[in-house]
Amino acid sequence: MASPVVVVTRRLPAAVEARLERDYRPVLNPADTLYDPASLPGRCAEAGAAALLCCPTDAVSAEVVAALPTSVKAIATFSVGYDHIDVAAAKARGIVVTHTPDVLTDATADCAMLLLLAAARGAYSAEKLLRTGGWTAWAPTGQIGVQMTGKRLGIYGMGRIGRAVAQRARGFDMQIHYHDVGRLPESVEQGAVYHETAEELLGVSDFLSLHCPLTAQTRHFLDARRIALLPDGAVVVNSARGPIVDDAALIAALRSGKLAAAGLDVFEGEPRFHPDYLTLDNAILFPHIGSATAETRDAMGFMALDNLDAVLAGREPPNRVA
Ligand code: DGY
Repeated sequence: MASPVVVVTRRLPAAVEARLERDYRPVLNPADTLYDPASLPGRCAEAGAAALLCCPTDAVSAEVVAALPTSVKAIATFSVGYDHIDVAAAKARGIVVTHTPDVLTDATADCAMLLLLAAARGAYSAEKLLRTGGWTAWAPTGQIGVQMTGKRLGIYGMGRIGRAVAQRARGFDMQIHYHDVGRLPESVEQGAVYHETAEELLGVSDFLSLHCPLTAQTRHFLDARRIALLPDGAVVVNSARGPIVDDAALIAALRSGKLAAAGLDVFEGEPRFHPDYLTLDNAILFPHIGSATAETRDAMGFMALDNLDAVLAGREPPNRVA
């Protein structure tokens, strides 16, 4: 029997594409063209696809799901987040949806630490000073940042990545505080202080790192009202999803000095982002690189394929979300 066809929306790491070529008849995207999501059903129909392997850049809406041919049995996303897929619509059509948890936890937590440190120490303005020839001498009062030692790190969303950030931050002698839908067992908390409400957490967060999924409830969670609850001079990091932050409110707080700095790896509407971020020397901005290490991207691809292998062989996939 001919191996199943898999439509792949983006260019994937070489080892992942090699496994796809070995086990399937993949329709690859070597030019890494960003497809119009509306074209995905047609691409799947034309190829007779059994599965769609997509990425966070593909908005697989209810309309897209509804138009997929009946041959499509699975949507495997090359990501842990699946807010770009209308999971309910897929479920209603009996299409299995899978994601890639765990394998990107370390890389993403490392990136959050990088943002925390870089924001706290004014890495962008320091490097800009040097690169633009403005560095005249070491100065006792020059390029002063915020010390992390002993400070309170608020983690909003204490799942896999939030916990990995806590583990790293303990190495910087930070005090860990968190909020999640429920309190974790003490053995997992490892001394972290639970706050029953997000508002209570914000009040003690000298540093705040966002690690919740994007849902209707968390959209624009960090708005002007909640920013006002943070201690003056707090540092905010978002490596989860852009729309969790209200950009206009964050920009206003960075401008006014209410917040000392911010580190952002994700943006609402990315790859577009609020242009005013570019005017802020106290913001460090990354183009969604949280999971971008060679090891992690290979592991994400292999996990997406493990999921597809299972679904297409009639087995329960290891990482099903619908
Ligand atoms: C994810 O996996 O959801 C990240 O945002 C991309 O690695």
